[in-house]
Amino acid sequence: MENLLIRKATVDDAKIVAVLAQITFDETFGHHFRDRNDLTTYFDNTFSVAKIRSSISKENNVFWLAFENEMPIGYAKLKKHSPIDEVADKNCAQLQKIYLRKDYLNQQIGGKLQLAMFEEAIQIGKETIWLSVLKTNYRALQFYTKHGFITVGEHLFSIGKETFDFHIVLKSFNE
Ligand SMILES: CC(C)(COP(=O)(O)OP(=O)(O)OC[C@H]1O[C@@H](n2cnc3c(N)ncnc32)[C@H](O)[C@@H]1OP(=O)(O)O)[C@@H](O)C(=O)NCCC(=O)NCCS
Repeated sequence: MENLLIRKATVDDAKIVAVLAQITFDETFGHHFRDRNDLTTYFDNTFSVAKIRSSISKENNVFWLAFENEMPIGYAKLKKHSPIDEVADKNCAQLQKIYLRKDYLNQQIGGKLQLAMFEEAIQIGKETIWLSVLKTNYRALQFYTKHGFITVGEHLFSIGKETFDFHIVLKSFNE
């Protein structure tokens, strides 16, 4: 990468994060939606500028942006405290989002964004980080496996008329 910058996002970045969230979700999962309205309704409910601004402002969330030659190319979101049944360590963090625009995939940029999240989680005293990944998202699965995540469970999530099947994976910073 010629000129890659990764930095934390603030509420002033809400528009950038929102547009990246919509574009990258569409690029990654848009083909799974038979009805485009299900996708746009999800965007309105989840990735509006107001929702993202509110999410960035929460003490429990940390967002990052990645820029290549000043152009926004990806974002990430850490939920600092996010316990779930499948993870024994109740002090765990969640890697809730890590998304790059499609022209920037497979260039090890994801690893740099992920490292920023790991460093933050470790710095605030976390020993475990978990995330959900679609079972058919083979690139992401390969990426997480390479970075030491192991599968500990599964769950379903519906958006409109589509139901998605996820693995729950975790990484322990102590191993
Ligand atoms: C997941 C993601 C953050 C990883 O970042 P990245 O910079 O692309 O990752 P890397 O370049 O370090 O590695 C990608 C790995 O996927 C592999 N890969 C690429 N295409 C693949 C495919 N179709 N099937 C399986 N593995 C694939 C690459 O070979 C590479 O693994 P390797 O280093 O062992 O060869 C990024 O790909 C991304 O944003 N994807 C789209 C959004 C997404 O799926 N986010 C995660 C949601 S849970």
